[in-house]
Amino acid sequence: MDTIRRVWQVTKSRPTLEGAGVKLKRAFGFSEAPNLDPFLLLDHFGSENPEDYLAGFPWHPHRGMETVTYMIRGEVEHGDSLGNRGTIRSGDVQWMTAGSGIIHQEMPRKMAGLMTGFQLWVNLPAAHKMMAPRYRDILAGQIPEISSGDGVRLKIVSGEIRGVRGPVTDLVVETEYLDVALDPVAEWRHPVASGKTACAYLFEGSGFFDPDRDREVPPGHLVVLGDGERVHVSAGTRGARFILVSGKPLHEPVAWRGPIVMNTEAELEQAFREYREGTFIKSKQVRRDP
Ligand code: FE2
Repeated sequence: MDTIRRVWQVTKSRPTLEGAGVKLKRAFGFSEAPNLDPFLLLDHFGSENPEDYLAGFPWHPHRGMETVTYMIRGEVEHGDSLGNRGTIRSGDVQWMTAGSGIIHQEMPRKMAGLMTGFQLWVNLPAAHKMMAPRYRDILAGQIPEISSGDGVRLKIVSGEIRGVRGPVTDLVVETEYLDVALDPVAEWRHPVASGKTACAYLFEGSGFFDPDRDREVPPGHLVVLGDGERVHVSAGTRGARFILVSGKPLHEPVAWRGPIVMNTEAELEQAFREYREGTFIKSKQVRRDP
């Protein structure tokens, strides 16, 4: 019998001002990241008021990490300093490996109703921090949706469930990224190998994240799971929707300032010096696939 992962910590996302004044909810960031290795940060964009997000995220650099943008509902235009452009639309994912460096902007478009999306930051190991940058632009229709048991529907952005594989493969840090929807009181069991970091962010309905059902987790909360071999979730009476991410910790020193994440202070200083001096971009070609 495999062991079930228990809830280790539940925290409420906190209102945060980012970019040029975007009001978002931070599920975890700088202070929590040591417990979430290889993940660095998870932001939840969710607002009915365009004033909260229209200022966007104007030009800024990234190095040494990946950003994963998943729009549930809404659109973000992005462009980089090399002239790559695109729009992430409802249901799409952009998995951006900044590697040695990308300078980009991310500008949400005005829309009526509730805009909802996420950005996850995944750290890169020392050996890959300076790898050539890469974009994966995944359209909503490329993300497989499967039913798993009664009242369970899940979209697989990355990872594999019963032979169904998400479109984002060949990752440096193997990350499973699932969007899970449970009908009222539905249960879901899912293997996540021991030793991996696993967390869930619930954004609709409510749920219990271990079989003891001690604590009903409301929307806008992050659940960090303890070690074990299997995740067990059951939905509250209004159902539940959450993202679940898991990955193997890097166990490396982290030197992090703003959008640049390296291993040492010297590497950080070098990155910011290069940005000031205009020598930040090392690779003029960004691989774009699949
Ligand atoms: Fe960015």
